[in-house]
Amino acid sequence: MSKADVKVIDHPLVQHKLTLMRQKETPTGLFRELLREISLLLLYEVARDLPTVMEEIETPLETMRAPVLDGKKLCLVSILRAGDGLLQGMLDLIPSARVGHIGVYRDPETLEAVEYYFKVPHSIGDRLCIVVDPMLATAHSSIAAVDRLKNAGAERIKFVCLLAAPEGIAAFAEAHPDVPIYTAAIDRELNDHGYILPGLGDAGDRIFGTK
Ligand code: PRP
Ligand code: URA
Repeated sequence: MSKADVKVIDHPLVQHKLTLMRQKETPTGLFRELLREISLLLLYEVARDLPTVMEEIETPLETMRAPVLDGKKLCLVSILRAGDGLLQGMLDLIPSARVGHIGVYRDPETLEAVEYYFKVPHSIGDRLCIVVDPMLATAHSSIAAVDRLKNAGAERIKFVCLLAAPEGIAAFAEAHPDVPIYTAAIDRELNDHGYILPGLGDAGDRIFGTK
């Protein structure tokens, strides 16, 4: 069994905002805003090892060599639809990032992932791909999304979520041991319907107010 490469972002700001999101009375607008705020804090950690290169610039006073991001722009990949809740904040932080979308939903009976959309930039193999989805439950959706991304040529991938179940982490690490997982919390377990406990409910419904 592969040892999972998991980083828990346990910053107090992240944990406080996550607690607000978990509460069932938190309304849609606030839920969405909290997710946007957390996405900035998660990306800050995920992007920590991005390479930089020194460039010569002019300040108003003199010339200096200063660091700028090196290499091709990274690619954010949202697993629809809840992934879009993490996407916007991250784009605010890295506006020049490329964006891919993978439409996957869980069959409510089998919990298997069903793909309905796939669109990513052509040059995916040259870019760091950051796959985002708030929930890692059984991991069927994220495993399928990363499978597709690798088939399309992606070589460097990170997966970012808000909540992860131990079962999902184990399954994901088994399928994609080369892909690190970043999460704000690891919850206790899955229930019989594949929902994370204690969790926050259905992320897509809570982001978009569809229930
Ligand atoms: C949710 C969530 C993940 C998936 C996680 O999506 O956003 O994509 O479930 O579960 P898994 O790890 O067991 O696959 P859902 O299928 O509800 O679709 P939605 O985002 O369109 O609401
Ligand atoms: N998808 C969700 O939105 N919530 C869960 O708890 C599990 C999967």
